[in-house]
Amino acid sequence: MARARRPLFCGNWKLNGSIAESLALASDVRNGVSTVRDADVSVAPSFTALYAVAKRLEDGPVGVAAQDCFWDEKGAFTGEVAPSQLVDVGCKQVIVGHSERRQLFGELDAAVNLKARAALGAGLVPIICIGETLAERDAGETLGRVQAQLDAALAEMSGDELARVVIAYEPVWAIGTGRNATPAQAQEVHHFIRTRVAIRAPEVAAKLRILYGGSVKPDNVRALMAEPDVDGGLVGGASLSAESFVRIVKEGSAA
Ligand code: 13P
Repeated sequence: MARARRPLFCGNWKLNGSIAESLALASDVRNGVSTVRDADVSVAPSFTALYAVAKRLEDGPVGVAAQDCFWDEKGAFTGEVAPSQLVDVGCKQVIVGHSERRQLFGELDAAVNLKARAALGAGLVPIICIGETLAERDAGETLGRVQAQLDAALAEMSGDELARVVIAYEPVWAIGTGRNATPAQAQEVHHFIRTRVAIRAPEVAAKLRILYGGSVKPDNVRALMAEPDVDGGLVGGASLSAESFVRIVKEGSAA
């Protein structure tokens, strides 16, 4: 059966890699996915390697994403990077609201919304991350937490803007732990997200790509992608090896 949405697999390299290492990984990913026709693929290197990697991947099928951005265009914001600067170095997408930014750097829902809207304004696709902690899941608060993060992140977006957004459901307890959500757990939350967006914009919800992130590996991606509302993966650790990331893309897009 044909998929309702074209899958997207994004490799989030987090804080890893010199320029030379990033270029080598990017080239290996590009070569590895050259025969993949049924999925979009992108990689998210560190800021320092973005320009070099975007140049290397220019005109090819693999897109480049940044891992974060600021919401203002310029000014006295030491250390921040504007969405237009990301466009300038060749990015097409930007991850916003990753749980590591929320947990380690105190990023709040309102900031995630500002970042996502600024990214859209600059022509970038924001990959907006949401997901509950283990304590929230154990307390039965998963859907409430996801709803609060989702509503805040998408606040004040126009219909056209909403239509360009990608959501990544990343349960915090599954990130870097080797413990992925079961396909049924992922499906429950993905379906909830789509239903929630449908209240506001049914046509957008039907086309919205919702990625799963959290210990995605070559041997679990097929089962996750078999769920009707799982439209791809945001892959951390397993994207640092071209071999495993390419396998994830191939297995996942064939599921
Ligand atoms: P892991 O795949 O290493 O669990 O990381 C997931 C993630 O945080 C992707 O953004």
